Amino acid sequence: MSEQEYKKLVEAARHNLDKAYVPYSHFPVGAALLMKDNTIISGVNVENVSFGATNCAERTAIFSAIAQGYSKEDFKAMAVAGNTNEYLPPCSICRQVMVEFCDDQFPVYLTREDHEITMMTVGELVPMAFESMDI
Ligand code: THU
Repeated sequence: MSEQEYKKLVEAARHNLDKAYVPYSHFPVGAALLMKDNTIISGVNVENVSFGATNCAERTAIFSAIAQGYSKEDFKAMAVAGNTNEYLPPCSICRQVMVEFCDDQFPVYLTREDHEITMMTVGELVPMAFESMDI
């Protein structure tokens, strides 16, 4: 992926921060999922008073893509942004959902408030992933 392409994706994730529904944590997270047709699907965290019913930004983006009719073969890359000093690592539930829809080499771009960007593959985020019951 070109630098221009992933920077645009990261900016889309950052832009989504304003849409997060975070009345409890006040910790907005924005995600952006790039499809192979160049569509960018938005994700934000959507919290709930029961806390456990909260949906993270990464899962919101992935589930939205599926709901819009895309399949995992259409996914190209994801970016995640927060107002954080450090790179914001996807939570472990989101990592497991990534394993369901993304292969080992799938790039996840992480950013932080100073706009630095790093990339980790899903394989790096989830070593020894549980991805099949056929074992
Ligand atoms: N959160 C995400 O949206 N993505 C992550 O990967 C980390 C955590 C959200 C969940 C909750 O709304 C808030 O951040 C604090 O945990």
